[in-house]
Amino acid sequence: MTPRIFISRDAGAVAVGADEVAAAVIAAAARRGVAVDIVRTGSRGIYWLEPLVEAETANGRIGFGPATPGEAGGMLDAILDGKPHPLGVGLVEEIPWLKRQTRLTFARSGIVDPRSLDDYRAHDGWLGLERALELGPAAIVEEVVQSGLRGRGGAGFPTGIKWRTVAGTVGPQKYIVCNADEGDSGTFADRMIMEGDPFVLIEGMVIAGIAVGATRGYVYIRSEYPHAIVAMEAAIAVARRGGLLGERVADSGFAFDMEVRVGAGAYVCGEETSLLESLEGRRGIVRAKPPLPAHKGLFGRPTVINNVLSLASVPVILARGGAFYRDFGMGRSRGTMPIQLAGMAKYGGLFETAFGVTLGELVDDIGGGTWNDRPVRAVQVGGPLGAYFPRALFDTPFDYEAFAARDGLIGHGGIVVFDDSVDMAKQARFAMEFCALESCGKCTPCRIGSTRGVEVIDRIVKGEKREDNLVVLEDLCNTLKFGSLCALGGFTPYPVMSALTHFPEDFGAAPRRLAAAE
Ligand SMILES: Cc1cc2nc3c(=O)[nH]c(=O)nc-3n(C[C@H](O)[C@H](O)[C@H](O)COP(=O)(O)O)c2cc1C
Ligand code: SF4
Repeated sequence: MTPRIFISRDAGAVAVGADEVAAAVIAAAARRGVAVDIVRTGSRGIYWLEPLVEAETANGRIGFGPATPGEAGGMLDAILDGKPHPLGVGLVEEIPWLKRQTRLTFARSGIVDPRSLDDYRAHDGWLGLERALELGPAAIVEEVVQSGLRGRGGAGFPTGIKWRTVAGTVGPQKYIVCNADEGDSGTFADRMIMEGDPFVLIEGMVIAGIAVGATRGYVYIRSEYPHAIVAMEAAIAVARRGGLLGERVADSGFAFDMEVRVGAGAYVCGEETSLLESLEGRRGIVRAKPPLPAHKGLFGRPTVINNVLSLASVPVILARGGAFYRDFGMGRSRGTMPIQLAGMAKYGGLFETAFGVTLGELVDDIGGGTWNDRPVRAVQVGGPLGAYFPRALFDTPFDYEAFAARDGLIGHGGIVVFDDSVDMAKQARFAMEFCALESCGKCTPCRIGSTRGVEVIDRIVKGEKREDNLVVLEDLCNTLKFGSLCALGGFTPYPVMSALTHFPEDFGAAPRRLAAAE
């Protein structure tokens, strides 16, 4: 039998040489005169082992990693002869880092051929759509409400409630817009889905369309994701040919079609109303709400806007039931969260698990601390608007409310790890500067306040009237927090104030007022 060898085409794997490894394996096979079947998959998300080469055996897939082109011949011999190899990691499913995960949304990523609808179906794809068609629109919405799924884009708004609003709004045309702008630092889960299991996103969008009565969809993908754009466009074409999209979805009476739109390259274009402006061909400026996009969204029509992960979680919810999904998690954070370990994490990658795991478990145990073995000093959770947490807060469970109670946010699930060489005053300044650079300019606290904020932090660090300037900074942060139209201005105080509160020593002599508050 022709050996089947799996190598990721995911951008993260390609960045560390997966294409070269694939070419070297093909060349090594040609030199040996053996035929091999190379399948280019997405990534399993075990980035610290990429490029990961996997081969099918009677017991499951065995892996080799991080693979190099120079080892291609040796790995191939090991696969052909069933012999050990220094890069061998054994059965991939048994790697503890993978085995401890609960993969619901990422069940297929790294396993299937992302361009094959047959492979998708062979791995339980399309079951959610079949069940959705049995249930009908109203019951689909209720199933998603029951699942407790909350938006994975950052705000954590209940997805089912959003869908119920759009379903109940009358309009001659409704839309499903998928937010794939993924601008948060340390995040890559949306990209991984689009490159590794694009049909699950398409299926989720189709189900959303049926649920709310929308027949058209758009995936707004950031321009910095060329591989994901190619992967989604290819998958949409295959889905059309395979009957997952079109006038009669899966031979039903429902129509749904979709296309890719490339983002305009601004962080604020990920904010839902700014994204709609951009989709309509204008500059990405935030719209005042109301009206909500659910009532008047794209081209003034009722629109569901959801993050990639929210939509990609819908097929498993439909296939296995809202109650099944709801069973995972804690408090009001139900289901699983694809957490992304980044920055200086030793074992960086995608770790999907039920809500409730503590930050310490994620950073120390799963992430393995830092790659240079220096102590972890701080982590930023939830992207550039997320708070910096010190080790003292590592007992915080991964849960929307638990993070909010400690003035933090889980956002899109990205964790950026910093070692003890980090300068937290520089990080605070960077947060303000980021806001100044990315502000859409619509409201004054954000447009002007962020620039003044950078200046004030500079004065504090220089020791110029430190006490007075600390008061000004806190005042400015409150103005941003309560006076901004959207969360870009509204949440910039979180990284700034958390850096000041938890790491006062980096801002010169320990600021008395804040140090006392500790
Ligand atoms: C400045 C800013 C940037 C945002 N960027 C993204 C993004 O890149 N991706 C995303 O899904 N949501 C982003 N959001 C959140 C969206 O506005 C919106 O809440 C989300 O797309 C809704 O989908 P969900 O309910 O599935 O999370 C951003 C919000 C703000 C304020
Ligand atoms: S807070 Fe900033 S990004 Fe948001 S609307 Fe106001 S100016 Fe624009």
